[in-house]
Amino acid sequence: MTEMKPGSGLRIVMISLHGLIRAHDAELGRDADTGGQVKYVLELAAELGRHPEVSQVELLTRQICDDRVGSDYAQLEEPISENAKIVRIPFGPKRYLRKEALWPYMEAFIDQTINYFRRTGLPHLIHGHYADAGYGGAQLARLLHLPFVFTGHSLGRVKKQRLLDLDSEAKNLEETYRFTTRSEAEEMALETASLIVTSTSQEVEQQYEVYEAYMPERMEVIPPGVDLTEFHPPAADESHAQIADALTPFLQDPTKPMILTMARPDDRKNLETLVRVYGESTELQQLANLVLVLGTRDDLRELAPGQRRVLLNVLTLIDVYNLYGKVAYPKTHVPSDVPALYRLAATSRGVFINPALTEPFGLTLLEAAASGLPLVATNDGGPRDIIANCQNGLLVDPLDRDAIEKALLRTLTEPEQWATWSDNGITGTREHYSWKRHADRYLRDVMELVEAAAEPALTEDRRRRRIPQFDRLILTDLDNTLTGDDDALAEFADLLRAQGDHVGFGVATGRRLDDARTLIEQLGLPMPDLLSTSVGTEIHYGEHLTPDRSWQKQIAFQWKPTEVRKVLADLEGLYPQSEKEQSQFKISYKIDPKVAPKLGMIRRVLREAGLRVKVVLSLEIYLDIIPVRGGDDLSIRHILYKWGFRPEQVLVAGDSGNDEGMLKGRTLGVVVGNYSPELEKLRKLPRIYFAEGTHARGIIDGVNYYNFLDHITIPNDRID
Ligand code: GLC
Ligand code: MG
Repeated sequence: MTEMKPGSGLRIVMISLHGLIRAHDAELGRDADTGGQVKYVLELAAELGRHPEVSQVELLTRQICDDRVGSDYAQLEEPISENAKIVRIPFGPKRYLRKEALWPYMEAFIDQTINYFRRTGLPHLIHGHYADAGYGGAQLARLLHLPFVFTGHSLGRVKKQRLLDLDSEAKNLEETYRFTTRSEAEEMALETASLIVTSTSQEVEQQYEVYEAYMPERMEVIPPGVDLTEFHPPAADESHAQIADALTPFLQDPTKPMILTMARPDDRKNLETLVRVYGESTELQQLANLVLVLGTRDDLRELAPGQRRVLLNVLTLIDVYNLYGKVAYPKTHVPSDVPALYRLAATSRGVFINPALTEPFGLTLLEAAASGLPLVATNDGGPRDIIANCQNGLLVDPLDRDAIEKALLRTLTEPEQWATWSDNGITGTREHYSWKRHADRYLRDVMELVEAAAEPALTEDRRRRRIPQFDRLILTDLDNTLTGDDDALAEFADLLRAQGDHVGFGVATGRRLDDARTLIEQLGLPMPDLLSTSVGTEIHYGEHLTPDRSWQKQIAFQWKPTEVRKVLADLEGLYPQSEKEQSQFKISYKIDPKVAPKLGMIRRVLREAGLRVKVVLSLEIYLDIIPVRGGDDLSIRHILYKWGFRPEQVLVAGDSGNDEGMLKGRTLGVVVGNYSPELEKLRKLPRIYFAEGTHARGIIDGVNYYNFLDHITIPNDRID
């Protein structure tokens, strides 16, 4: 292995695809997709960019051209800090899309990013954030042989369970949230990642734990930082905060200490319990005001039903307990009010409380702590780590009202303790939760990965193009796509021969190289210019069948064939195919669909055995297990990248599951009329043409559809 030492500094590519991301005036909270994660990636990118060991950070997101959002999101590039910038990759429709609607365009993202890397060179490392970029980044990392880092931010399986706990009969979950796609993307990200960055130890133990590819040894708890220039303790001569004016109309005595909470009105936040505790405690009411900052609302009747319900409950309880003059619940605030509000509460010698039923992280707790407010927080996830690190308050059971009351009373009645907690929060956040510290730990870990990584095969100087004369390429599957209709096949062969040298011809097949060649000869086809065989695990060129060495180099990554066979030997209904179908990087079975476990279960068994492989099903009965860096999705992109083809110059045709990978993406796809059910799902994708004609007739249909031999047109570029 050649060592790749990042000599002139590390180049890091971060990917965060959904929501509205811009470097200035981030529109946090504008919609459900523009929240904590957006802030996280921007702050992380900025901090890493400032680090001496880093030469460049590129934060890749989607380009959005849409009047409903600002024109900032259409800019192709935007600086964040000195060595960090946003790069916007156009993919899918131009308009703004919610995150669940991005899935059909992920292959387009991958292909566009390959283009970008061809122009700018390869980074040392790819870091994907959330399931969508987890999937896209993992595919890119596999293809380009780069180390991959993943941060889930929130996880599909966990969210689904939470929704089911609230409403066990919840309908349309799949349609609304695309959990199946999302969880599979997360699995793929996890099995590709050399490092998974989490924010709390509970996230590792309880959330990632439900994933098949759970490998705690690759997970590191590196909590996010809090912006310490924004969140700091009040100055002695702290100027008057505007937000104070928003509270005074509510309060009889605004000088009393504040019991402050700040949360979206959401069931999980358990706000009603807090109001009850305060409402039932005359002592608390005497000592302090309760300040509830529950997002902003224009007309509460127009809030989402869940939010409206929580707000109405809170207002009702205020009335029931007759808390007028003691509770403030300002209707709106702007982001810049928030730091001032914490300082105001700290000046009042108040306390910050987070009574949520569960709290995966709880950034507000860090902000409060950094401002010098002691904490009372739920005994869960983030708060547990924060209070253990900072020693700046008390953990409570969010369902135990007495405990909550006692904890609040302690902070309000023991001034020495208050001062200690306040100081501890200020110093603790600086010690444990600065972005600087996060970046140091992060870089220590990724530097190790980068140094251990083999040199990416494709960084070497590009040699003379072996297939130079073509300006377009037809790449097709063999069995049931080319074969099956002899007349149409002969016609297709004639069509190819008539094109001369500017159209390349390639075959991608599940068969082994020797076998594929024999068949191609028998069929009277011209010898292909390139062959991707054994389900995209081998690539050869030209009449001498020259192997692609850069492809060969790392295909064996993580490949443990003996263990795969051992694990699958225990499953019912799986029968190994004949010896001649097995090859170095392909283990093939025939399965009896009536007896064999479902595809998802087979994947799961392999993942849970710690094996990192790809599982491919074709014609519902052929099962192939190949290395993670194999498969026609990657082999075709390798060819495109290496030889500098644009996807628009490549027509791909197939009929079954082992063709799925090469059909997806920005190449021009043709599914022949006799396709098998596994490909039905491709109907949702752009640039996939379902031909009427079967077998080779379908390929000819596709060639005509895209006018591929003349001036190429792409009628199905969009699928709105
Ligand atoms: C071809 C191969 C077989 C494989 C199948 C699906 O038929 O000969 O081994 O399982 O394709 O990829
Ligand atoms: Mg086939």
